[in-house]
Amino acid sequence: MKSYEELLLENRAWVKQHLYFDPNFFKRHAEGQEPRFLWIGCSDSRVPAEHLTGSGYGELFVHRNIANQAHLDDNNVLSVLAYAVDVLKVHHIIVCGHEHCGGVIAAQTDTATGIVKEWLKPIYEIKGKQASQLATMSQVEQQNTLVRWNIEAQVDNLKQCPIIQKAWERGQGLAIHGWLYELETGLLKSLCYHDHI
Ligand code: CO
Repeated sequence: MKSYEELLLENRAWVKQHLYFDPNFFKRHAEGQEPRFLWIGCSDSRVPAEHLTGSGYGELFVHRNIANQAHLDDNNVLSVLAYAVDVLKVHHIIVCGHEHCGGVIAAQTDTATGIVKEWLKPIYEIKGKQASQLATMSQVEQQNTLVRWNIEAQVDNLKQCPIIQKAWERGQGLAIHGWLYELETGLLKSLCYHDHI
């Protein structure tokens, strides 16, 4: 296990390495950002957006929360969306869920409590609506299916979001993607794609 001091030391090494190859690296980035992608992913430590997409500094605008939710009544999600779409004018929004998602498993097994359970309510609702179909599956199949349905549900939320609808109405190029990260292979899979109303 790393100590927090090691994180600070690693940071110093990281700065040194960047400055060695490009003395203006940090100064240049301080001038602004123009990311093309908004990533809405899970907070899970095993799904680091930049690492698994080979993205560098300034390439992804990132919002992560438990079980990659895009709740349209959440000011955190909405302010990220508004800034990404209206100001940064990202070209793509990627909702990325992942297998073995603790949030989805907590909803599936009904082990979430308190504020986390409240946050996961949309997954509980999907589970409730599709109970008969889920009942025919094994535990693992249920989890994997809920992970997928959750990604698709969040993409559907985004499609209905006024921030995105207005962008489409004014002809702004903006696509929404639903991706699945397979934790056991490291591979990203595209589940769905939308680029207009
Ligand atoms: Co997760």
